[in-house]
Parts: sequence; C-alpha cells; structure tokens
Amino acid sequence: STHILHSLLFFFLTSTTSLSSASSIGIDASFLSCLSADIPPRLVHTPATNSYDALLLSSVRNLRYALPGTARPVVIVAATEPAHVQTTILCGRRHSVRIRTRSGGHDYEGLSYASLDPRQRFAVLDLAELRAIHIDTARAEAWVGSGASLGELYYAVGAASRTLAFPDGSCPTVCVGGHLIGGGFGSLARKYGLSADNVLDAVVVDAQGRLLNRSTMGEDHFWAIRGGGGESFGVVLSWKVRLVRVPETVTVFGIRRFRNQSAVGLITRWQDIAPALPWDLYLRVLVQNPQADFVALFLGRCGRLARIMQRRFPELGMTRADCQEISWVQSTIFIEFFTTAKPLEVLLDRSNKPGYYLKVKSDHVQEAIPRHAWESIWAKWLDEPGTPPIMLDPYGGRMGSISPSATPFPHRNYLYQLQVYSFWFENGTEALEKRISWVRGVHEELEPYVSRNPRAVYVNYRDLDLGTNGLENNVTSYEKAKVWGEKYFKGNFKRLAAVKRKVDPDDFFRNEQSIPPLPAA
Ligand code: FDA
Repeated sequence: STHILHSLLFFFLTSTTSLSSASSIGIDASFLSCLSADIPPRLVHTPATNSYDALLLSSVRNLRYALPGTARPVVIVAATEPAHVQTTILCGRRHSVRIRTRSGGHDYEGLSYASLDPRQRFAVLDLAELRAIHIDTARAEAWVGSGASLGELYYAVGAASRTLAFPDGSCPTVCVGGHLIGGGFGSLARKYGLSADNVLDAVVVDAQGRLLNRSTMGEDHFWAIRGGGGESFGVVLSWKVRLVRVPETVTVFGIRRFRNQSAVGLITRWQDIAPALPWDLYLRVLVQNPQADFVALFLGRCGRLARIMQRRFPELGMTRADCQEISWVQSTIFIEFFTTAKPLEVLLDRSNKPGYYLKVKSDHVQEAIPRHAWESIWAKWLDEPGTPPIMLDPYGGRMGSISPSATPFPHRNYLYQLQVYSFWFENGTEALEKRISWVRGVHEELEPYVSRNPRAVYVNYRDLDLGTNGLENNVTSYEKAKVWGEKYFKGNFKRLAAVKRKVDPDDFFRNEQSIPPLPAA
C-alpha cells in the first residue's frame, strides 16, 4: 500500500507541475540563465525536467508537504561544488528568487523544500552531493559535508576507530546540515552535549555569496549557526567537529514493560532517576500502547551497568541477561532499530523509504509528571491499538553543565524532553484532521505538567503551530517572530536577531520560522 501511495503522489506532483511551470516559465527564465553561467545544466532541475519529481521527492520526509497545493520550488539546484551554492544565492538575489536549503529533508514542517505561501517563488538548494567526510583520528576531529547523513558519519567514524564517536541524533537518514544547525540531540548528549557543542569550525556561504570560515565569519555568526535553526544565517557547506572518546565495548539493552504490569509506575520513577544517572548512561523511554520500552546505552561493560541499575532503578528489574556488549557504532543501529542483527551497512542506506504523514509536538519537563496524570493521559489518549509513540529523552549530565547562552540552544536544565510523534499512512483529509487533532489534544492535556513561560521547544522539533513569520517593511517582523522565537530560544532569541541584522540585514534567507533582523533601536 505504501507503493501505491508513492505512485499517487507522483501523479499529483506531475499533474500539478504543468500548471505551475506554465505560469512561471517566463518569470524564471532570467534566473535560469543566470544559473547556467556557472552551473552545468544537468544539476539544474525545473518542473519541465524529467528528473524534477524524483529529485524533489528524494528526501521529502513528511508527506503533508508533498500534497497537491503545496508551493514547490521553481528550480532545484543539486550542488556538487561550493561555487554552485554561491552562484545560486547571487542569482537568487539578483532575480528575486528565494532559497530553501535542503540537506536531508527531515524538517518536521517541510521547510527545506516546501512553502506555506502558495505564491512564493523559491529554489531548493539541495546539498545531498556535498557529503564528503574526512576523519583525522590522531587529532580526533573530522570535516563533514552538510549533505552527509548521520548514518554515513557514524559508519565513517566507526571504520576509522573503535574508540571514537560523534554525539548526534538517532535517525541515520537525518543529515548533518539541518541537524547541527538546530543543535543535534542523541544518546551521547548526557556525556558530551549536543552535536553543536562539538563543532569547531564551519564553512558557510553568506547572503553576499562569500565563502566564510570561523575566523572570517566571526564568533557571533559562528555562535548562531550552532543551534540557531536552519536557513537564517547562510548555507553551511561543511562542519569541523570534535570526535569524542568511547570505550571499545559499550552496552545496550531494551526492556519492555506492559501497562497492565508496571509501566506507568516505572515511567513515573524514570523521570527523576534517568536525568540523575551517571553521565555514561543514557536511558530513554518510548511509550506506545500497550507498553513502555526502556532503551539504554552505557559507555562501559555489562557488569557495571547491572550494578548501577540495581542500585539506582531496581524497580525496572534489569539483569545481566538484558545486556548486549557491542561497539559504539553498532549501538547507533540498536538505538534506531532495537536490534544488533543488522549489518553496519544499514547506516549507509539513504534511500527514502515510502514515507508517512507527520505531525510532532514536543515539550520540556522540569518536574516529574505525577503518576495519576500518566494514568489519565494513557487512558484518555494512548489506549487504542496503533496510537503513535511518546518519546522521553533524559537530560542531565553534561547537558546540565553547559551554560544556556553558550549556544543558541537554551534548554539545558530540564529533566527531560518529550515528543508526541504522530505519523500515519492513510491518505485524505479525514485521516489528516483526525491525526493532527489527536496530537494537539495530547499536547493540550500536557500543559499543566510541562515547562511554562515559555513552553520551551527544541528548534529541530519544528512546530509551525507555535507561530509563523510576517513581514514589516519587507523584512521579517521581529515582534511577530518573538512569539515562536522565545519558545525555541528564550533569551538567546534577541542575540540571534542581532546576528541576523549583522549578517543578513536584507533578510534574504527567510522562511516561515527564520530569525528576523533585530530592528534598529
Ligand atoms: P532539512 O534538510 O529538512 O533541513 C532542516 C532545516 O535546516 C530547514 O530549514 C533547512 O532549510 C535548513 N538547512 C538544511 N541544511 C542547511 C544548511 N546546510 N545550511 C543552512 N540551513 C540548512 N533531531 C535530534 O536532535 N535528534 C534525533 O534523534 C532526531 N531524530 C529524528 C528522526 C526523524 C525521523 C526526523 C524526521 C527528524 C529527527 N530529528 C532529530 C530532527 C532533525 O534533527 C531535524 O529535522 C533536522 O533539522 C534535520 O536535518 P536535515 O538536514 O535532514 O533536514
């Protein structure tokens, strides 16, 4: 059935392209001719090119933004060299075509390839081919292209050394570009912080088309790209990152407990226990009726892990029999697929499996949610087969020891983050409305128990319900953007806007939730 869905999408896409291309051919000819001066024609895909649909869909991860009626790019430039990015930006400015940069296309709200405004003319700058990875084991550093997937990076690090790693997220097809620019949270965050905390340098093309590195862009600009969210501060081509030390052998486990056994009580206990565990231990929970799965990565051997668990969380009943001792790179597969039986090469698979429709809402939790609230949330919202998961990811450890202003990501002192991850495969507005109202309903139910003033959200878990931009004198309104901006960035939002004023005062790089230039006092 997923194959049928894909064919239908192709049909919708091709049948709507003829309309949009007919109206835009004249307008965009000058932009195309500008591109053609420096970019080979095979890298420039318009709705009139056969390759356009397949390329557009190649990394669409949320089918809500591939539906008919969604504004689509007038051109996709599949850059293979930095100069192609520079040319696209300069031509875009000259001919009033805005850019949407796409690395892996995982944006929860499709902002890297779609626009909410049906009249907007934009080009997609696709960076999938800019994905070289160079590992320097002696210095424990790497240069990584934005188009590299997390899986490709994990594979390369694992192949270079069994005792090096990089702290990144769990999904191997997410790409480095969008991930690092929004922070990057994963199973090593309690030990080493976010991906963005481990960035040492970057190569960026700015709004003037200049190629900059850390020293030429300056520390404010460099601060902003380490968590300030996608698109606003130029196109990041590549990142120099610090690799971190891990033992040759790490330990993982996955323990399932059912609602009719002990799951609710365990989740309630988990909230205080997991964020206070030793930094070497990451223990997340996935709650999905009828069970809760407790999934752990420990940077050490099974014996020590079992002793820690027996002392700190005896109720879970973890024993040595639950352990699997593996390498760190294998643990990245376990965290994603709950098995160690897959070959490492699964990390290299970038193919876009027939996708799903997606709406995610997320929160940060400061004080444990009481047991009775978990009971009632489960009874009211989760108690049906096939309801989507709620994911709980612990903070604490290194996360809590980094200053909230060290990077734009301010959420350092919470117990954990929570995602209500609604995805579905059925087509049609009925399913869409039902699923979206479900996720919004759970979100409303959680309100008394989560962070407030602001209700804090991680920018990489993009949610357009928080608010979208509007213009004032042809630049993005700062006042309007504050509504969503302070939820993602708290006090760092103003500093991000000040950096934006400095590096992109004309607001060329913009989308529904891009950082606005701070108005002059
Ligand atoms: P995409 O290409 O869609 O880009 C996202 C945003 O960044 C867009 O606004 C885009 O324009 C901009 N952008 C992309 N590349 C850029 C560049 N080179 N320069 C400037 N701007 C750029 N997160 C997390 O922290 N931990 C996790 O475990 C997961 N897991 C996860 C699983 C799944 C299935 C999804 C769909 C998402 C996640 N995420 C996540 C969220 C993920 O980190 C977030 O969506 C990233 O922005 C995705 O980066 P991509 O490059 O894939 O997205």
